[in-house]
Amino acid sequence: MILLDGQGRKHDYLRISVTDRCNLRCIYCMGNDGIEQTSHDQILSYEDILKVVSAAAELGISKIRITGGEPLVRKDLVDLIKMIAAVPGIKDLAMTTNGTLLPRYVEALKKAGLNRVNISLDTLNADKYHKITRCGKFEDVIKGIDASLHYDLNPVKLNTVLMKGINDDEVLAFLNLAMEKPLHIRFIEYMQIGDHDQGYSNHYLPLSFVEKTAKKAGLPLKPVPLPGGAGPAESYSIPGAKGTIGLIHPISKHFCDSCNRLRLTSEGSLKACLYWQDEKPVQPFLSDKEALKNLIREVLCGKPVEHKMTADGKYGSINPGTMRGMSKTGG
Ligand code: 5AD
Ligand code: SF4
Repeated sequence: MILLDGQGRKHDYLRISVTDRCNLRCIYCMGNDGIEQTSHDQILSYEDILKVVSAAAELGISKIRITGGEPLVRKDLVDLIKMIAAVPGIKDLAMTTNGTLLPRYVEALKKAGLNRVNISLDTLNADKYHKITRCGKFEDVIKGIDASLHYDLNPVKLNTVLMKGINDDEVLAFLNLAMEKPLHIRFIEYMQIGDHDQGYSNHYLPLSFVEKTAKKAGLPLKPVPLPGGAGPAESYSIPGAKGTIGLIHPISKHFCDSCNRLRLTSEGSLKACLYWQDEKPVQPFLSDKEALKNLIREVLCGKPVEHKMTADGKYGSINPGTMRGMSKTGG
């Protein structure tokens, strides 16, 4: 079964935010005071998430990513992984996590059927990590990365949001990490998402900066296909490196024309595009699989052609995008 949106784009990928809660408070994701948390009874239950996955799989969704907030702060997440892995048609099950709780759960997650992880890491400096995450311990995420490599959650990808004046001095250190370890380091452009975000205008930097820095250092980036599917990332190898480099530039070179993703928010709304306000709650349709399938088709049918995020942030004020923060949508 092939699921197309209104623009004829094939959709096979559902990203599910299982919670808006997080044990960290990264500066680009949450305001100083964190976020207003959604109460537990407003969060979609595992049983209901499974209904959505099952309907989506029958329509042609084969890849699932669990996101948050931080997915591992939700109780019994391993059970959800087990249940999703068993849904017919689901061929790839991944998770985006800050990695700090992985040492505790990684073995069980692997056994439950999780194929791979993306771990957020924006700096290789312990003090800076504490500042960016406002409370995180660097050694926790490093242990999480090592545990993921140990349990073969391959390919292990790192998400690194490039921030001018914060971690742009560490591009080479990240390239060197990819030389030494089989890690796939994906630099991501800072996006202006949600209503808390004053940091954007000060810290946005286009990813051409990474290419220039690599070139200057004599580490030429060569385009390569990435095992496990690169998604919107352009992947590059460096001669002699164990890992790869990915560049995800939603702002400077957007990839909307090849977008294959649909999102389910932690409160149970389907969202076709990360940027726009539009979303539709699944709750009224959960008791009828055909109705749920129709809702998925309808949401995709109305999917916008593209987002309107621009480097100067101006489009954002002319065409107001979502006020829903990243932690409530899933990155
Ligand atoms: N811009 C770019 N990436 C972001 N993420 C969260 N907020 C932003 C933002 N404003 C990414 C983080 C994390 C993933 C969940 O989403 O890198 O890895
Ligand atoms: Fe797809 Fe919307 Fe993201 Fe563009 S912004 S890549 S249309 S989800």
